[in-house]
Amino acid sequence: MSVTGVSGEERNDFTRAENKRLRARSMRLAGELVRPVRWQIAGSGLLIVLGTLGSVAGPALIALGIDQALPSLTSAGDWMPVILIASAYVGIGLLGGLFRSGYFRMAARISQRVIFHLRLRLFRQTQDLSMSFHEKYTSGRVIARQTSDLDTLREFLDSGIEDLVSGVLFMIFTATALIILDPQSMLPVLISFVPIFFFAWWFSNRSRKAFRSARVYSARLIVQFVETMTGIRAVKAFRRERHNETTYGVEVDNYRMANQTVIALFGIFDPGLKLVANLVMAIVLLLGALRVLDGTMEVGVLLAAVLYVRRIFDPVAELAFFYNGMQSAGSALEKISGVLEEEPTVPEPTHPVPLAAAAGALDFAHVSFHYVANRPVLPDLDLHIPAGQTVALVGTTGAGKSTLAKLLARFYDPSSGTVSLDGISLRDVSNDDLRRAVVMVTQEAYLFSGSVSENLRIGRPNATQAEVEAAARAVGAHDFILSLPEGYETDVNKRGGRLSSGQRQLLSFARAFLADPAVLILDEATASLDIPSERLVQRGLKTLLADRTAIIIAHRLSTVAIADRVLVMEHGHIIEDGAPADLIAGTGTFATLHRAWRDSLA
Ligand SMILES: Nc1ncnc2c1ncn2[C@@H]1O[C@H](COP(=O)(O)OP(=O)(O)O)[C@@H](O)[C@H]1O
Ligand SMILES: [Mg+2]
Repeated sequence: MSVTGVSGEERNDFTRAENKRLRARSMRLAGELVRPVRWQIAGSGLLIVLGTLGSVAGPALIALGIDQALPSLTSAGDWMPVILIASAYVGIGLLGGLFRSGYFRMAARISQRVIFHLRLRLFRQTQDLSMSFHEKYTSGRVIARQTSDLDTLREFLDSGIEDLVSGVLFMIFTATALIILDPQSMLPVLISFVPIFFFAWWFSNRSRKAFRSARVYSARLIVQFVETMTGIRAVKAFRRERHNETTYGVEVDNYRMANQTVIALFGIFDPGLKLVANLVMAIVLLLGALRVLDGTMEVGVLLAAVLYVRRIFDPVAELAFFYNGMQSAGSALEKISGVLEEEPTVPEPTHPVPLAAAAGALDFAHVSFHYVANRPVLPDLDLHIPAGQTVALVGTTGAGKSTLAKLLARFYDPSSGTVSLDGISLRDVSNDDLRRAVVMVTQEAYLFSGSVSENLRIGRPNATQAEVEAAARAVGAHDFILSLPEGYETDVNKRGGRLSSGQRQLLSFARAFLADPAVLILDEATASLDIPSERLVQRGLKTLLADRTAIIIAHRLSTVAIADRVLVMEHGHIIEDGAPADLIAGTGTFATLHRAWRDSLA
């Protein structure tokens, strides 16, 4: 199984122009996210400035204490200055701590709020996007957006920015304090910044590559995991477990190696930084000691200078890491903004034409449709289906039957021409009206977590229990529902509530009939039923289809018996159209098909 779900977006290999467009797109999203919290950001900025000032004041107070307060205590026995400075030290430390804790709490609240809104928005957008998006954007990628990308952003907001702001401020304030206190001690620090700069640059470059490949591998892991698990039946049926394990193992190993590289790089960078810092501290101490001997420097100032020098290097590692966090967050933002800016290809009309009570007349007028440019699936379709007619649509696999159904349910809009309901183009009907009027039942028969009742009510949330049971009875599902552990209240995803695919299909029938649409489309909806269940459904079908328009796509020709009209489709064209009896009596494709089918039953 190859990993097909990893697109250019996951690999980050873009041209310059594309990169520019992507950056603009991310910046737009970042702006939208920041705007509602800009005042909170300003407030937290003030808190961290005050907090950092507090923590930078410490060494200066110590210098003051040693050089001014201590002498007046030893020479004049005056305790006052010492007590004052000690209280100031404690007081300022306390205040600084309060401000810093306020800052961290506020920053956390801001980032949580931003992520919360983004998460909801991403969910809403992904769900609202048209079928064409979901068919090209694999579920693995959708999941990666909602999980690892959002997590990367959250991590960056949670610690990255906070560390950067407090780190940068700390360095600036500490350097300023040192310059005011003793400019000469700043000189070795300034000189050391040259090798540190190159060192950090090297680290960032190397680790960026490692981080980037770690991200690619982690995205691939998610994609492959999701692909394997959604296709678990095929995996089991074809004994692909060992093979998948091998390919997954390769990706896991790549991921491990990439992470290991990052850690190894950090293992060089962090001790290297400490070494430089210690060296600079030793030099400052040595030069200071000479000046103290000269009498040109006081001991307290030297102590404060050494303390400042030791602390000035603390945030350097954080800054280098921040740069990486920013890179990851940037690419996550790029990918998320890509989903957010995707336009629905089937947009809801701004001024919908109301569809009060749909009668159910359907029209295709010069409809052409293609999924992929230059490969028309429906070249030019004209078709009128009067309200209330039951139509059987048959034809070989790939003829375009499901495509026709998807156009009727407006999962897609035609490439040209118009599909209309009661004379109104589907493009002009609101989503609510359309979903009420047209319901499609497919082979998939998806059930959501929850009880049988809840699943049946999806098409009509306010249906009474009696109505729910009547619908279940009508399709022959009532008896098996009663035999479930908790009847209608059985959870369909819990043990004991698991249903066979035939039972699921009966439920999706009942769900559709409860919704009571003007137009009902059944696309191979009875394919998983055994012959007795299908008979049961068919008996129900006759009455249930009586007062609505129905399009039945079916392999088994037994369904055709209840149709008023049969359409035979081939290569996107309707090649036969007539009453079942007439077509069977004739010499066309349908007559041949029907004869073969009857012979197979004998
Ligand atoms: N999402 C899609 N993207 C591209 N091509 C598609 C898609 N769905 C169907 N097709 C193609 O359109 C043609 C008609 O498919 P479909 O309407 O599903 O046929 P049928 O239901 O009659 O078996 C086929 O050639 C199929 O490969
Ligand atoms: Mg089909």
